[in-house]
Amino acid sequence: MAKLKGKTVAASEVEMIEVVLPNDTNPLGNVLGGRVMHLIDMAGAVAAHRHSRRILVTASVDYLDFVHPIRVGQFIILKSRVTRVFHTSIEVEVRVFREDYMTGERLQTSSAFVTYVALDETGRPRLVPALIVRSREERQRYREALERRRHRLAMAKRAHLRYFDKWQPKRR
Ligand SMILES: CC(C)(COP(=O)(O)OP(=O)(O)OC[C@H]1O[C@@H](n2cnc3c(N)ncnc32)[C@H](O)[C@@H]1OP(=O)(O)O)[C@@H](O)C(=O)NCCC(=O)NCCS
Repeated sequence: MAKLKGKTVAASEVEMIEVVLPNDTNPLGNVLGGRVMHLIDMAGAVAAHRHSRRILVTASVDYLDFVHPIRVGQFIILKSRVTRVFHTSIEVEVRVFREDYMTGERLQTSSAFVTYVALDETGRPRLVPALIVRSREERQRYREALERRRHRLAMAKRAHLRYFDKWQPKRR
């Protein structure tokens, strides 16, 4: 099989901005967690698609806190970047910020690592291009991704065994 050409982190970086509208908020005027989760998945998927140019599914989202509320009328800003590619999976870091349009104050409200898996037309996992890391920060995030992956796969295995009514590993 021909070797896939690697791509840089910068080639797939994404910044998305939306205004928080009343329909996306609770009675206190704070954005709903589910809306933020949807936007995280979208921002992450765009970066993963730009990197891979493949059909993708979301396999997991690591640890998600909502540290500060984002109020109706404020901007919600999502920044995503690919941190590491393994074989068929791509880890993307998504950071969420709120920005006040009157004062310009910007504050990070969440951060998550989302894993996407590339599939072929028959739905089987498929290899993705390597990630070219250049800066010190990119190399550090890349190194740390290995430990995150170990932890996430171990947690997933444990959780599936423990919390699924009947867990049956897939057979191919
Ligand atoms: C994600 C999915 C394709 C993985 O299938 P699988 O049978 O476990 O596939 P494999 O064992 O061959 O693993 C394929 C890759 O997925 C990764 N993977 C599997 N489960 C994972 C998890 N919980 N978290 C992160 N990565 C995971 C594996 O590490 C592997 O990565 P690699 O090739 O880079 O090493 C499958 O579970 C699926 O289709 N899930 C539904 C996805 C979906 O519909 N998402 C939308 C929300 S419902």
